[in-house]
Amino acid sequence: KTYKITLLPGDGIGPEVVAESVKLLDVIAEKSDFSFEYTEALAGGAAIDARNDPMPQETIDACKASDAVLLGAVGGPKWDDLTGAMRPESGLLKIRKELAVFANLRPVAVPPSLAESSPLRPAAVIGVDLLTVRELTGGIYFGQPVGNDGNEAFNTMRYSVEEIERVARVAFEWARKRRNKVTSVDKANVLEVSRLWRDTVKALHKKEFSDVELDHMYIDNATMQMVINPRQFDVILTGNIFGDILSDTSATLGGSLGLLPSASLGKGTGLFEPVHGSAPDIAGQGKANPIAMILSTAMMLDDLGEGKAATAVRQGLEAALGHNLRTADLCHEGYTPASTSEMGELIRTE
Ligand code: NAI
Ligand code: MG
Repeated sequence: KTYKITLLPGDGIGPEVVAESVKLLDVIAEKSDFSFEYTEALAGGAAIDARNDPMPQETIDACKASDAVLLGAVGGPKWDDLTGAMRPESGLLKIRKELAVFANLRPVAVPPSLAESSPLRPAAVIGVDLLTVRELTGGIYFGQPVGNDGNEAFNTMRYSVEEIERVARVAFEWARKRRNKVTSVDKANVLEVSRLWRDTVKALHKKEFSDVELDHMYIDNATMQMVINPRQFDVILTGNIFGDILSDTSATLGGSLGLLPSASLGKGTGLFEPVHGSAPDIAGQGKANPIAMILSTAMMLDDLGEGKAATAVRQGLEAALGHNLRTADLCHEGYTPASTSEMGELIRTE
């Protein structure tokens, strides 16, 4: 079997970290009965420079025709003066919309070898292994009507049963592959939308996923729990705005943005990208941490149904972190600095 992968390296450190993923996938293909066929396409600032469009139609077509899309990052100071649909980031919104990826998955795992780099107390973060499943294409960020007359403004939070069910299904299915627990986060004590959310999640659970442990938590409490006792979470299921805030809160646990992967999934092709941006301050210097991109690649392998290969990648990473090499973002006293490609190679060979 050959998987078609579209690569969107993008800008800044994007191409540097995507290169490490490709080298890793090539090593995996050598040891497996499947292989990868890559199509590289333009996105973000690179596409603005070449095509005057941050997400050209040819890129969209390539993405839709592939089994998965790996994206580095887009944007940077060179394109900061552009506005609206010409901005690199609007290209990103466009491809998410075109692929109709309604579930955004952001896992955070803190192995003991990394806990010391967390800004929070190591004791509370050691062993954290959670996954936020955030609804990405609905809720208050998209709900109509929207208005602002200068004196009064409003947004609308809306969810339908169908929208809630499809993202809840993703959360329950991932829980089965993990520690079999879902915490659904809402504000059902105040919001009508959250009451529908909670009822819908409960009904789906009863009907299709009663083997998975389910509990419910209010967003305010969940944010506090994320700080004081994040180990209690396995899969967190939540809507667009709550998920935005909660997943950024969880991002502090790992100690570096360079560690955090994401996957955006819909009915068809999934989009896999690190949480971080193009990091212009370190671009072109071989300083970028490739781990976020490599973990995003592992999520891609999971989504393609190659769970064994995904596990092998995570084990290689864990073994690599047993050595005292670290990229600059995690390089404390007692560690030896490694470049992007040295870190990538260590993970590949472990
Ligand atoms: P950023 O994530 O690029 O960088 C924030 C800080 O984290 C910087 O100090 C950077 O050096 C560090 N960092 C990020 N990734 C790292 C890695 N892999 N290894 C080591 N250090 C890392 O966010 P920032 O600076 O706010 O944005 C820079 C550009 O990226 C902007 O143009 C922004 O719009 C864009 N951006 C793009 C995203 C995407 O493509 N999904 C997401 C976030 C920002
Ligand atoms: Mg955010």
